[in-house]
Amino acid sequence: MAKVVCTSYVFPEEIGRLEAAGHRVVGPESEAPLPRARWIAELSDADALVCLLTDRVDREALRAGRSLRIVANVAVGYENVDVDVDAARERGIVVTNTPDVLTEATADLTFALLLGAARRIAEADAAVRRGAFPAWGLDQALTGSDVHGKTLGIVGMGRIGTAVARRGRLGFGMEVLYHNRSRNEAAEAELSAAWVPFDELLAESDVVCVHVPLSDETHHLFGREAFARMKPSVILVNVARGPVVDEEALVDALASGAIAGAGLDVYEREPAVHPGLIALTERVVLAPHLGSATRETRRAMARLAVDNVLAVLAGRDAITPVS
Ligand code: GLV
Repeated sequence: MAKVVCTSYVFPEEIGRLEAAGHRVVGPESEAPLPRARWIAELSDADALVCLLTDRVDREALRAGRSLRIVANVAVGYENVDVDVDAARERGIVVTNTPDVLTEATADLTFALLLGAARRIAEADAAVRRGAFPAWGLDQALTGSDVHGKTLGIVGMGRIGTAVARRGRLGFGMEVLYHNRSRNEAAEAELSAAWVPFDELLAESDVVCVHVPLSDETHHLFGREAFARMKPSVILVNVARGPVVDEEALVDALASGAIAGAGLDVYEREPAVHPGLIALTERVVLAPHLGSATRETRRAMARLAVDNVLAVLAGRDAITPVS
């Protein structure tokens, strides 16, 4: 019988699948996650760890998990598994993530933030609720900007970037520019997307959507220099990782009118949000890391993580190893 440690709540049906396979599951008794010290202690005789992007799986954790065979991260990003993936592999520990199943939900949220910022939905909602229904007029309060027909710049044309581009192109008739380390010929053929250098994308786009993973290369990719190259009317949407954007520089760019708006789902120091962002309400929409947060998608993510655990504990290959 293998032992599976879950750092946080996992749906009962998934726990049931692990138990039906003969495994012992240790996890929180309530919705509150296990404290770090507790799950690290539980790792001493564990075979599998199911964790969230908020759990830091570092050398201390790996060292504690002497017989660990799999770390199943319930997220597509896995920079929280901050042990060298090669080092984990040397010890025979497989690291898995949950790609694909969250692509469409995250692309939907990208568009929700984009439309929310462009059409000022949060401001409008707040105005209606406080009884400040604006008078209808040709140049009335809360006038936003068009999204349809505009130029959509995608930075990171992987699965989620392509799904956002598809919405923009097929749903909103947008021109799609993208920047990516390698060309995405499928997206070019399907969506007439054009690869352009990063600076050109910044200069030409009406909306810039960030879909790159966090790495040394992408840390603060969007800083003062990038904002200075963008159109003053641009809206920036980040559903990837907070530290890809220099938040201090973003606050200054928004406050000075160097850029027009932002739709953000991720932040540099989650769960803290820069007070400058909180203070900016015009054309700025803030969500608390909800990219994959639909009931259907969260269930699919948990299922895929557990499928990975079941596969590895049965001696089979993981379904979605990270490398
Ligand atoms: C969410 O941010 C994820 O990486 O799945």
